[in-house]
Amino acid sequence: MSIFSIRKLNLVYGGTRPVHALADIDLEIDEGEFVVLLGPSGCGKSTLLEILAGLQRPTTGQALFDGRPIAGPFPSVGVVFQDASLMPWRTVARNVQLGLEIRGRDKALRRRTADAYLQLVGLAGFGDKYPHQLSGGMRQRAGIARALANEPSVLLMDEPFGAVDHITRIRLQEDLVRIWQAHRRTVVFVTHDVGEAVFLADRIVLLSPRPGRIHDTFRVAVPRPRRRGDLSLLKLEASIYDALHAMDAGASPARAPLRALAAAR
Ligand SMILES: Nc1ncnc2c1ncn2[C@@H]1O[C@H](COP(=O)(O)OP(=O)(O)OP(=O)(O)O)[C@@H](O)[C@H]1O
Ligand SMILES: [Mg+2]
Repeated sequence: MSIFSIRKLNLVYGGTRPVHALADIDLEIDEGEFVVLLGPSGCGKSTLLEILAGLQRPTTGQALFDGRPIAGPFPSVGVVFQDASLMPWRTVARNVQLGLEIRGRDKALRRRTADAYLQLVGLAGFGDKYPHQLSGGMRQRAGIARALANEPSVLLMDEPFGAVDHITRIRLQEDLVRIWQAHRRTVVFVTHDVGEAVFLADRIVLLSPRPGRIHDTFRVAVPRPRRRGDLSLLKLEASIYDALHAMDAGASPARAPLRALAAAR
């Protein structure tokens, strides 16, 4: 059953020179699914994520959550951005507790919840530190813990690992898969890294720019835990690079049928 339904959606940013950011987007996202939005810079990935978060309204068409139009930000979603955007004056634990504090939860519950999620993301014992005392990768983990502490049914992540080094990024991807397997929340994850997309996703939605359209969709039917360098994943990566090149060459961006490229192992 779809948790998000995007139907015939267009988004035009207004102003003196309007920008047609998203065109004719039709997308269903299932409950518990891990969907990656992939595409070059400016193709509308963040805009689409903001629509799912209720931070942008479609110009035409519909964006539904659980069958109802998304009218504004709502508590069932947790959002993680590229920079963890922690509050520098709060300790890590108090950053993680923020949502619970806003909802008026008592101190003992807040502490327990923060401890549990800090442990889950590998930051047990770092709750008393301030954000500047953590590495970039640790701050991203804290940002994920903060989003999870509100126990959202959906996690929306906009290039959350874009600013960390390669090895940390690989670890964070593995952590995220582990957390996703433990909780099975729906995840919509934005990246322009093809390797990251095939490692993480159940399904990859490839967007083309100007205006942003769904160029192609790839199902990643490789069981987890996935091994980097796995032949099926590499084949899928090659197909995605082909699609990106076709896109650059201006080949028809028609709505290609869903491909089950990595089904055979
Ligand atoms: N607030 C805004 N006002 C006007 N135009 C905008 C606004 N936000 C984004 N755009 C434009 O909409 C298009 C899509 O932008 P968006 O940020 O969604 O792309 P993106 O795929 O996330 O890119 P990146 O990979 O660089 O983050 C771009 O052409 C951008 O310039
Ligand atoms: Mg973006």
